[in-house]
Amino acid sequence: MDKIKIFSPATIANVSCGFDVLGLCLESVGDEMVFEKVDKPGLRIKEITGADLPLELEDNVAGVAGLSLFNRLNPSFGIEMTIHKKIKAGSGIGSSAASAAGAVFGINALCGYPLTNKELVYHAMQGEALASGAPHADNVAPALLGGFALIRSYDPLDIVSIPSPDNLYATVIHPQIELRTKDSRSVVRQTISLQKGIRQCGNLAGLISGLFTSDYDLIGRSLHDEFVEPIRSLLIPNFDGLKQAAANSGALGSGISGAGPSVFALSKGESVALAVADAMRDVVAQANYAFEIHVSKINPIGIKILS
Ligand code: HSE
Repeated sequence: MDKIKIFSPATIANVSCGFDVLGLCLESVGDEMVFEKVDKPGLRIKEITGADLPLELEDNVAGVAGLSLFNRLNPSFGIEMTIHKKIKAGSGIGSSAASAAGAVFGINALCGYPLTNKELVYHAMQGEALASGAPHADNVAPALLGGFALIRSYDPLDIVSIPSPDNLYATVIHPQIELRTKDSRSVVRQTISLQKGIRQCGNLAGLISGLFTSDYDLIGRSLHDEFVEPIRSLLIPNFDGLKQAAANSGALGSGISGAGPSVFALSKGESVALAVADAMRDVVAQANYAFEIHVSKINPIGIKILS
């Protein structure tokens, strides 16, 4: 294989009760990336479309993640990447993760798949560290593995794929204002009370159980965040109205997507997810900012090869 084109999907990190430890993969929105083997040794970014991002490897999320893997594999040939960004930076749906995960997936593929996708997560995390100052894995893991991914432990890295019900859909509204993950992380409190910790543990365990047993009501009851939503929601316009609209339209639950400003809701079935999208659209209809809304089934595969 000398050339490969991939789709690298958007993701929703945290999923309310799983700050930094849980994420899910979307299928309706993502970046495209092309990787080519070349004679000239080394890794390069040939072109980026759709965003004004640096081509220098060490300043670019895909470059840092890609170099981490490229230096480990040390292939005898060179690789050139072309990145077509479709996910806006600072959107809260894993823009940097799509670049980082896509880079390591493409390089691994051209090298003949020496590593598993799970083993690639570590290298993709190096890109996230550049983007947000923290090598969190709750976007890159679901992008690489599909479905829901749980980071049971960061040290040592232990990632567990969690099944999800077939009829589970996500609605995501993305106000077109940039909220950098670095800034959104800087407002998060470094300590939490035992009571909040207990409630968060209960909800995370409930969500995982609900996903395993396709218990939609349990999934809905568990979608609460004690850790970051109370403070981060202050940075998101119309947050309470969007949550209320999702609940009124039959969503199982809703919350901040990743570091925001996107807001997500989970629903049973596409028709409810579409009704949630309509209700969210009504909430922001009068707003003075543009927005995009995505409705997506949970993507069970993750990154996929287009050609
Ligand atoms: N867990 C990370 C955060 C996800 O909330 O900061 C960022 O997409």
